[in-house]
Amino acid sequence: MKLTLIGTGYVGLVTGTCFAELGHEVVCVDNDPAKVRLLQEGGMPIYEPGLETLVRRNVAAGRLRFTTSTAEGVARSDIIFIAVPTPPLPDGSVDLSFIEKVAREIAQAMTSYKIVVDKSTVPVNTGDKVAETIKRYGATKVDFDVVSNPEFLREGFAVEDFMKPDRVVVGVRSPRPVAAMQEVYAPCGAPVIITDINSAELIKHAANSFLALKISYANALAIICEASGANIQEVTHGMGMDVRIGRRFLNAGLGFGGSCFPKDLSAFIKISEQLGYDFRLLKEVQRINAEQMDRFVKKITDTLWVLKEKRLGILGLAFKQNTDDVRMSPAIELCHRLLKEGATLRVHDPQAMEKAKTVLPDATYIDDMNAVAEGCDALVVATEWPEFKHLDLERARRVLTTPIVFDGRNLFDPAEMERLGFIYKSVGR
Ligand code: UDX
Repeated sequence: MKLTLIGTGYVGLVTGTCFAELGHEVVCVDNDPAKVRLLQEGGMPIYEPGLETLVRRNVAAGRLRFTTSTAEGVARSDIIFIAVPTPPLPDGSVDLSFIEKVAREIAQAMTSYKIVVDKSTVPVNTGDKVAETIKRYGATKVDFDVVSNPEFLREGFAVEDFMKPDRVVVGVRSPRPVAAMQEVYAPCGAPVIITDINSAELIKHAANSFLALKISYANALAIICEASGANIQEVTHGMGMDVRIGRRFLNAGLGFGGSCFPKDLSAFIKISEQLGYDFRLLKEVQRINAEQMDRFVKKITDTLWVLKEKRLGILGLAFKQNTDDVRMSPAIELCHRLLKEGATLRVHDPQAMEKAKTVLPDATYIDDMNAVAEGCDALVVATEWPEFKHLDLERARRVLTTPIVFDGRNLFDPAEMERLGFIYKSVGR
């Protein structure tokens, strides 16, 4: 099928490329000429495992192209996906100005029936607004359908999540676009759930807020584990074996960050408020997440006492493993908190060092993870990169001034760390 993605950011580029890989003919539109040029010349604006190969392959096969022209994208395709940013406003609500602008542009470019699909994360009832806008600004009065098709891609696993989704959610106002949407996703072989538009929009915020709630629940349990002598990993393992609960998203640590969970949670609280409901359960999720950072910093200062003139080695800057993204990264927040206390930092991340330099200029960047600990008073694990599990621990113990490790992601085994001669502090164990 002929598909256009408007917005070639993280979601748009992954989705467009994967659609091409499934055999569709795809146009990716972006209003940033530098980004479009970079992609046309074979460069990549983001790091996402497996994506570059797919972009190359599909561009070469003629199934994927990039342009700055919305009109071209609309003219070439039957289905137009909106994948522009919906950033938070200062009060936590969602800035829908990019969505509104794109809706107007699509309306002005439409000369025949189109299916306009919203992929961006938007508040419930946005589909109605998009439909109204397209109707109002349509240059020629042609028929169209608005569809909600939220994305559930995890950074670092986006290609895999796209190709093998647990489900595809499609919200519609009439049966007309259903068959086309089913055909678009047919090669994935995943269940396609058809709902009304409002429900589809709500599913996204409800799902992300629930996952954030799971993490905060595990973090609150970790506090109880520390106070009682239980072990959070054994507790979550035992809980997670119950299929009604599931083990995933129960990892205690520094809390959640990134460009989705904090934003979607704030948005959902605001949306609920506007609908007349005070969603206090979700406010508590936010509070536990913030407190988790305070507790970890306190763990460090309780052990090292004064941080002034102390040197700390930090492993991890990205907001999670497998990404170079440092937006709302708990690791970066931790670094700022430690710098404020007067510590100096030696930092390393397998992918995020370049991006981190702009938000964390006052740190020494170390290319080799095994060299980070040199001359430090303690080593701190801030991101759950699996490669950190292969750290040369013998060497770390030798080069640390005092053999102290604060593990904010529970990567190491406490008994093994003790055997190696470390003072080892993790979360909830
Ligand atoms: C998330 C959702 O998973 C995805 O469906 C949605 O579309 C976008 O938001 P993403 O932000 O890429 O994806 O990251 P995710 O892997 O969900 O992790 C979010 C944060 O939670 C990270 O900071 C991670 O470190 C933290 N986390 C995750 C935990 O602290 N504990 C866990 O058990 C899981």
